[in-house]
Amino acid sequence: MTKAVLGIIGGSGIYDLPGLEAVEEIKVASPWGEPSDLVRRGRLGATDIVFLPRHGRGHVLGPSDINYRANIDVLKRMGVTDLVSLSAVGSFKGDLPPGTFVLADQFIDRTFKREPSFFGAGCVAHVAFSHPVAPLLQKRVAAAAAAAGIGHAVGGTSVCMEGPAFSTLAESLFHKAQGWDLIGMTSMPEAKLAREAEIAYCFVGMVTDFDAWHEEAGPVDVALVMHHLNANADKGRRLVARLARDFPAEHEPCPVGSDRALEFAIVTAKEQ
Ligand code: ADE
Repeated sequence: MTKAVLGIIGGSGIYDLPGLEAVEEIKVASPWGEPSDLVRRGRLGATDIVFLPRHGRGHVLGPSDINYRANIDVLKRMGVTDLVSLSAVGSFKGDLPPGTFVLADQFIDRTFKREPSFFGAGCVAHVAFSHPVAPLLQKRVAAAAAAAGIGHAVGGTSVCMEGPAFSTLAESLFHKAQGWDLIGMTSMPEAKLAREAEIAYCFVGMVTDFDAWHEEAGPVDVALVMHHLNANADKGRRLVARLARDFPAEHEPCPVGSDRALEFAIVTAKEQ
């Protein structure tokens, strides 16, 4: 039996989790460098929670400046078994308007300035990643969204761009034409690193805008993004509170193997 510890990475607008009880702020050292902030460990009801604001308190780190490896490493060191990653995203679909929470389950990685793996020189591993999202965790998050009355959709593909500038119109039309649903700047390499760390992962894209493709909405308007960001942040906190309310005490083994990804992944010989 593995005790469940629910990790929450708060995206833009979510820098704390009100209601967290018995909170300790902990500076966790990582050989991978500095995480985005101190982690906050506490309880929501009977559930152990570890919270980390992705951009740091006060939103001081841009998407390319975040040390994703250190962030996932410190969550792992704090015992996180299940991770819910909340991220602001743009939408390519008219029926996924701002305010919708989209539990995307596929990703396209278009980042190019980030360290995407814990492995490399000295120890080579290739984890399976065809199904990046842990289905049981996603099911729980969807049920929590429904119970909290949060408009949401389950499934979809999110493309992760490097940023920090938003897309050109041509890029936005291209991404939309691929049939992709969302665009953001932070799902990658976070999801890959969670898999390498054998943590079950669920992505929650909180839609703030229609990116640049929408003829009526026009280009991304940062003031409008901020408006939706704040409204979404409130819903994001409610979602986490609802999820924690009846989260199981034991980690549920993941049907796609998120929690045992390294079993057959390491190719470097043990003895050399
Ligand atoms: N985050 C929120 N909206 C976004 C967009 N349109 N493109 C990339 N990241 C985003």
